[in-house]
Amino acid sequence: MNLLEVRDLRVNYGHVEAVRGVSLSIAAGEIVALIGPNGAGKSSTLNAIVGLVRPASGSVLLDGHELARAPAHETMAAGVALVPEGRAILGRMSVEENLVIGSEARPWPGGREEARAAVEGQLLRFPSLARRRRALAGALSGGEQQMLAIARGLLARPRILLLDEPSMGLAPQLVRQIFEIVRDIHSAGTTILLVEQNARMALAVAQQVYVLERGAITLAGPARELAQDPRVQAAYLGTD
Ligand SMILES: Nc1ncnc2c1ncn2[C@@H]1O[C@H](COP(=O)(O)OP(=O)(O)O)[C@@H](O)[C@H]1O
Ligand SMILES: [Mg+2]
Repeated sequence: MNLLEVRDLRVNYGHVEAVRGVSLSIAAGEIVALIGPNGAGKSSTLNAIVGLVRPASGSVLLDGHELARAPAHETMAAGVALVPEGRAILGRMSVEENLVIGSEARPWPGGREEARAAVEGQLLRFPSLARRRRALAGALSGGEQQMLAIARGLLARPRILLLDEPSMGLAPQLVRQIFEIVRDIHSAGTTILLVEQNARMALAVAQQVYVLERGAITLAGPARELAQDPRVQAAYLGTD
């Protein structure tokens, strides 16, 4: 069974049909990439999966259990965490406070001590955050803010982590660093649904890829195959 299964998902904003019947399957242990142009409905899809946006219809199954109408705190408790587009960190709180709040998203079997240790674990994993643990999150660079947002997402102990354009607005060297972090998180056992406009990087890290255009999936398959597809190359990889 797939860990996450999205079936015929529809999201409308008034008369705008942003997501028009999207179906996705994500097996446990995979990185699945969702690529497509600006305005295609990628963020709407992720937001509907986690319950930040109410879908007009469709199903979101985690391990076969319906989540489609559950509010965001319930999907998070069930193990689906979103690192939203634009990071959404708490800029007026310190790096450490952001992480502590992240660790409170879901109870820890070992209680406060385990939560505390997990926060320290994330600070070990991201040395640039550890160095600035008392700094205001809003004062961090874009790359550091993205790391903080990812660390906070991981502190929700997700079974599946949804990343919405983690490389957006970052310099090339930081983009590479973010993709290495994505690989590390995956190697450590977290399933990932990655939304990206950087198709080249997304195709390089993902096993499966879906292409979303104007609210509908137009192409899907193994990343290795799609990277060779002339339509993908022309539209997303800048080659033809
Ligand atoms: N809150 C909203 N209200 C109205 N329209 C929206 C809203 N959010 C997104 N849209 C529209 O829905 C479509 C899909 O947007 P979005 O999901 O953000 O796409 P992507 O993440 O692929 O860029 C776009 O036409 C966008 O303008
Ligand atoms: Mg978006």
